[in-house]
Amino acid sequence: MSKRNRSKQNKKMNKNKKDVKIETEKSSMMDEWPEPIVRVQSLAESNLSTLPDRYIKPASQRPTMTEDAPAATNIPIIDLEGLFSEDGSSDDVIMAKISEACREWGFFQVVNHGVRPELMDAARENWREFFHLPVNAKETYSNSPRTYEGYGSRLGVEKGAILDWSDYYYLHHLPPHLKDFNKWPSSPPTIREVIDEYGKEVVQLCERIMRVLSSNLGLDKDKFQEAFGGKNIGACLRVNYYPKCPRPELALGLSSHSDPGGMTILLPDDQVFGLQVRKDNTWITVKPHPHAFIVNIGDQIQILSNSTYKSVEHRVIVNSERERVSLAFFYNPKSDIPIQPLQELVSTHNPPLYPPMTFDQYRLFIRTQGPRGKSHVESHVSPR
Ligand code: OGA
Ligand code: NI
Repeated sequence: MSKRNRSKQNKKMNKNKKDVKIETEKSSMMDEWPEPIVRVQSLAESNLSTLPDRYIKPASQRPTMTEDAPAATNIPIIDLEGLFSEDGSSDDVIMAKISEACREWGFFQVVNHGVRPELMDAARENWREFFHLPVNAKETYSNSPRTYEGYGSRLGVEKGAILDWSDYYYLHHLPPHLKDFNKWPSSPPTIREVIDEYGKEVVQLCERIMRVLSSNLGLDKDKFQEAFGGKNIGACLRVNYYPKCPRPELALGLSSHSDPGGMTILLPDDQVFGLQVRKDNTWITVKPHPHAFIVNIGDQIQILSNSTYKSVEHRVIVNSERERVSLAFFYNPKSDIPIQPLQELVSTHNPPLYPPMTFDQYRLFIRTQGPRGKSHVESHVSPR
């Protein structure tokens, strides 16, 4: 081998070595958190009079520094009663309300949605009990950034990041092979059974809404579901626990983000407000209707609809008086199939705005960077 070729080959080997090193660093990074985990619950219970620096948001992100919509403003509330009649026809007025909400707001509340109110209350209260267990009883479920399953206190693995004022629990409901009861809490004793049943009912609601979203674009009602992988979709639950915060004007319970998945069905706290939705340049505090779910479009449905439906930024504010518990159920595409604007919705005049990407690839961003507004879906546009 000539000297030149040998040096070329050495360079190549070094480059490969470097790649391997980066890959291992990346994968070991995903195995553990960059810093010791501090439970927000423990901080809240230690009666701090000041807020630790790690939770102080830069001035521009603080809830008091941003503009609020008039207090009475709310996201649309839609009654689903009669949406699907026995003969398979659907109600045009309700369909039109959903269509407008998906285009203009990306968020709406639904009542008469078919999930039993007792089951909703049982789910929330079982989780509240879980979060009231002493911190050390929950540490056995402590999670890592690789799968996020279990008990966690941060999103993202960036060392030194400013953190949100919340703990959470994350678990898989679908696909069936990812549903692992051993990774679900066992206390309180009814929790597994209740979450399992809750998940099944909420999936049915998601399937109904997917049909509406599809029909509302003039497509076959099953088109969205098929694009998501048919029966092989993913569904997971993140339960958020926002303890009382000593300086709520400096912190956020959850930073501004859009949900990376398909659609989210949120069961909010029935007593305490906290969710804010961005409408133009103001923040609207959602006033939950009793036993309503809050539905929102995620990035994958924005992509599928070629941006006709909007995945909208939202965040959570905290307060010093009362803790808050919410259940966010994420309905996602099968994780390894490419998601892109539906062929029926694009043309030469209306080209696809996004290149194909699997949800596995897509969600790596939020798993490493943490919540960052709409920067992810905005940076995912096709080159022009
Ligand atoms: C989420 C979320 C809102 C809330 O978990 O993605 O936006 O009210 N939660 O907890
Ligand atoms: Ni969200």
